[in-house]
Amino acid sequence: MEIKIQSLDQIQDAARQFVEAMGDNTVFAMYGKMGAGKTTFVKALCEELGVNDVITSPTFSIVNEYRSDENGELIYHFDFYRIKKLSEVYDMGYEDYFYSGAVCFIEWPELIEELLPGDAVKVTIEEQEDGTRLITM
Ligand SMILES: Nc1ncnc2c1ncn2[C@@H]1O[C@H](COP(=O)(O)OP(=O)(O)OP(=O)(O)O)[C@@H](O)[C@H]1O
Ligand SMILES: [Mg+2]
Repeated sequence: MEIKIQSLDQIQDAARQFVEAMGDNTVFAMYGKMGAGKTTFVKALCEELGVNDVITSPTFSIVNEYRSDENGELIYHFDFYRIKKLSEVYDMGYEDYFYSGAVCFIEWPELIEELLPGDAVKVTIEEQEDGTRLITM
């Protein structure tokens, strides 16, 4: 399915549509070029899932953990941009997150492609020429 984000003031509406389409899936691989809007959309998704914390890119920590105040469930937000070797990903215990049953949003999944669970949902975020964003899942 495709979701179009016309502008930032409509992102929450797009996030709501995405959350409705998530179903029982838990691992979401968010592909998209630098600056496409991955972090911004994950932030909107977390808000939609009931997280009230400040949501920032986990650039320096690989993973940020949030808790939904709606249902108490954990949400993990990864950014693998700075990964140099897969051993770093093994060392952080990625399996404990990916197979935990908690929702995982992953930025730069192409850098750990071979470690993604088979049932990970592929999501792409593309900036269009007019600045709107197209989400495909
Ligand atoms: N839907 C949107 N509409 C308009 N601007 C957006 C949208 N999403 C993100 N932006 C803007 O684009 C810029 C980059 O967004 P963001 O940091 O989310 O990108 P990213 O894909 O996470 O980049 P990176 O690969 O560096 O992590 C920000 O200035 C943000 O405000
Ligand atoms: Mg980002």
